Order: sequence, then structure tokens, then C-alpha cells
Amino acid sequence: MEVIIQPSKEAAAALVSRIISKELRGNPHLILGLATGSTMERVYRHLVQMHREEHLDFSLCTTFNLDEYVGLMPSDPNSYRHYMNHHLFRSVNLDLRNTHLPNGMAENLEAECQHYEALIKRFGGIDLQLLGIGKAGHIGFNEPLSALRSRTRVKALTPTTIKQNAPFFGGEEHMPRRAITMGVGTIIEARRCVLLATGDSKAQVVAQAVEGPITSMVSASALQLHARCTVIVDEEAAADLKEKDYYRWIFENEPDWQDYR
Ligand code: GLP
Repeated sequence: MEVIIQPSKEAAAALVSRIISKELRGNPHLILGLATGSTMERVYRHLVQMHREEHLDFSLCTTFNLDEYVGLMPSDPNSYRHYMNHHLFRSVNLDLRNTHLPNGMAENLEAECQHYEALIKRFGGIDLQLLGIGKAGHIGFNEPLSALRSRTRVKALTPTTIKQNAPFFGGEEHMPRRAITMGVGTIIEARRCVLLATGDSKAQVVAQAVEGPITSMVSASALQLHARCTVIVDEEAAADLKEKDYYRWIFENEPDWQDYR
């Protein structure tokens, strides 16, 4: 795992978007794993800007999102399909037929989960998976105790997650109780993972995920098993990390990061 500390939320999101754009320019057929949440909105803003101003081309790119709520129509403003259309898809030249999210309206949810896994496999796996982190340490909707080898499946959301996301739904009673999510095992099979966390509300959970033990109580800690995972944080989200000086030295000195400094 590598940790990169950036001075601000904006700088952290800009760095993530530059990593994505470099991968996409290197491989126009990139299979890109996407995430939702307020943290990602800045990243998508940067990507849209790069598409408009620097001709970043998504026409051959295929995307797979991590998760989707069960029971929401794609047109529902709270569905992740709607989020993706709104924040990215409609503003860049992605072919919507190449964008994939689990179908939370499927009659047979289990079959839908298997279909999603099979589809990822058919495309040869995910090249670059973008990740956020929930306050309880989840990636996707892999709530505490998600098996570290879990695959795409339906997960019941924890009270913490429901509380965190309920304001978007106008109250807990309107919020779906379940979601389809890629499993932890699915996520760590991506060839590269980039996790973005910003703000002081993420400081504790970032420290647990990065420097704590690998545990299904903090599903993001499973990323420690990944051979190529970069965690990008702003100063606020880095606050509880013990080895900050070491991480800063790596970013300032290692040739891999030369183009990004
Ligand atoms: C939701 C998503 C996660 C995301 C998390 C954090 O739970 N399923 O993929 O990481 O929100 O969201 P935010 O960026 O708003 O803190």
C-alpha cells in the first residue's frame, strides 16, 4: 500500500483524476471501476474538465460501479445510476452501453449478482478500481464482517450507513435497507486500486484501514493484501496516521510519482 498526503480536498481529487487520465491515455480500452459518494464528486468534476479542455477520451472505456441500492429505479435521484449519469456519464463521451451498475430492481437479485460477476470476468477484470471509504470502514457496501473473500451479493446496510446516507433520502424511513455490492474479494482482484478519503470525519477510519490489522470489521483493511493499492488523503483525513513523514518522503522522492509532483 502507498499513502499520498495532499494539502487539500481539491488537490487530493485532482491527483486521483490525473492517475485515471494517465491510465486511460495509456489504454483507451481501460476497464474502470467507479465509486459514488460525495468525496468522488470532485474527481468527476476534474475528469469532466479534462475531457472538455484536454480531450480526455472515454469513447472506448468500459466502466463497472461498485454498488447500487436495492429497489430504486435508475431514474430515482438517489440511485447510483442517477448519480453517475449526473456527475460523469452525461458530461463525457462514455458510451452508456459501456457503463455498468448492478441492477437493484432485478426480480432475481442473486442471479443479478452472479451476472455482474460474470460480466466483469468477460471483460477481463477491472484495470483500475476507484474507491471511497465509509465512516465504518466499508468499501462499496461491504459493511463490517463482510467476508474478505466475498463476491458481488446483496448486503443489509448497517444503522451507521443508514444514518449517514438517510439525509439524501429525506429520512431513514425512505432509505433502502439493502444494496448490491461487489464483494471485498471482487474488489481486490482489480489490477490497481485507488482509494480517496478526505475530511476529518475519515481520519480515524483511514488510520485503521491503513495502519491497523486486517479485519473484516474494517473492510478497507483488506486492501493491505493488494499488490498495487494507492490511498490518497488530504491533511485532515491523514491526521491520525502514524507514519506521515515516511509517506511524504516516498511521494517526494520515488520515481513512480515524479510525473505527479
Ligand atoms: C457510500 C458508498 C461508498 C462510499 C461511501 C462514502 O456508502 N457505497 O462506496 O465510499 O458512501 O461516501 P462519502 O464520500 O460521501 O463519504
